[in-house]
Amino acid sequence: MILVTGGAGFIGSNFVLDWLARSDEAVVNLDALTYAGNRENLASLEGDARHVFVQGDICDRALVDRLLAEHRPRAVVHFAAESHVDRSIHGPGAFMRTNVEGTFTLLEAARGYWGGLPATEKDAFRFLHVSTDEVYGSLGPIDPAFTESHPYEPNSPYSASKAASDHLVRAWHHTYGLPVLTTNCSNNYGPYHFPEKLIPLMIVNALAGKPLPVYGDGQQVRDWLYVKDHCAAIREVLARGRLGETYNVGGWNERPNLEIVRQVCALLDEMKPDPAGPYARLITHVADRPGHDRRYAIDARKLERELGWRPAETFETGIRKTVRWYLDHQDWVARVQSGAYRAWVDQNYAGRAAA
Ligand code: NAD
Ligand code: TYD
Repeated sequence: MILVTGGAGFIGSNFVLDWLARSDEAVVNLDALTYAGNRENLASLEGDARHVFVQGDICDRALVDRLLAEHRPRAVVHFAAESHVDRSIHGPGAFMRTNVEGTFTLLEAARGYWGGLPATEKDAFRFLHVSTDEVYGSLGPIDPAFTESHPYEPNSPYSASKAASDHLVRAWHHTYGLPVLTTNCSNNYGPYHFPEKLIPLMIVNALAGKPLPVYGDGQQVRDWLYVKDHCAAIREVLARGRLGETYNVGGWNERPNLEIVRQVCALLDEMKPDPAGPYARLITHVADRPGHDRRYAIDARKLERELGWRPAETFETGIRKTVRWYLDHQDWVARVQSGAYRAWVDQNYAGRAAA
């Protein structure tokens, strides 16, 4: 079996669902169920003995030790993190704790467990750390895309905390020989994406007739990848990645935010027309994010060359599936928009007068 952390979040829950749809290898899913974790994402696994859900904190060393000793996983796939840049600006402490201390705790627990395994299990063990392209910093308009050897230049508390965790993972391999793998992925989108991030926020706001808040001029560029393609890349790296290596994962789909928002609006116009007029009328430019990275772009050729991975979805097919999913899961959307969600929306957007 494998131990997954953060498997009730956006990418983690997609990973667990896809994993168990493809294999009978069981998953122990350790997740603290912060605001971003949602057991409802895993509802289809209720009663499935292949999925053991444990609510707990990755910083809890005794708990992690116990789970490793009890379940004897052959791999740890580490998603758990605080993941939202805007929240890291308002409150960086939780990012240092979960992303840095939590990764440290997992590495130490994994090192102890791995060190005590018999030789064949020891050889087969893997610690896969899921990270982000944001650790590389920001690109100029014509700079080449990030390769795995691009210097680390994180600019936000979020990306700095992920960069720190990547360095720990690297050091635990170099110093202790822990069999680690790291993936650095671009922006994901797809089902179960919490509506604090750009694409789901725009879908749910548009459907509610609320303003669509575009930071600054909306010309910041991100490289968007459909979440299930990311999950496939992780499965490949886990199965055949070279120990100690990092692999960039991206969608070959760089687009400015404003274009993404317009595309979401156009799909909604087609799938659920608003009698009041085109959804793009709701686009509102608001004050920019402090320290906003201008452009991310991933060069994913290493992953293709070594492991044969390429994304299966184009942006056009992936965004259509995503908008459809949100239209078909309005009950999920309503339930995640709790009081805590509304408090966050007030905190992040109230001070951003229309720009
Ligand atoms: P998410 O915020 O949707 O989910 C994070 C999950 O981790 C939640 O279920 C939460 O409850 C859990 N968690 C948080 N703190 C925890 C703790 N202390 N102990 C145990 N569980 C805890 O995040 P996501 O978008 O699914 O991202 C998953 C991983 O992928 C993160 O490491 C993130 O840095 C990385 N990543 C995300 C993206 C993206 O576009 N979303 C892109 C590249 C990399
Ligand atoms: P986000 O989904 O928060 O991901 P990240 O900051 O990790 O790339 O944001 C994606 C882009 O969209 C980023 O450039 C910020 C921008 N953005 C807006 O313009 N408005 C919003 O309300 C949000 C949440 C993001």
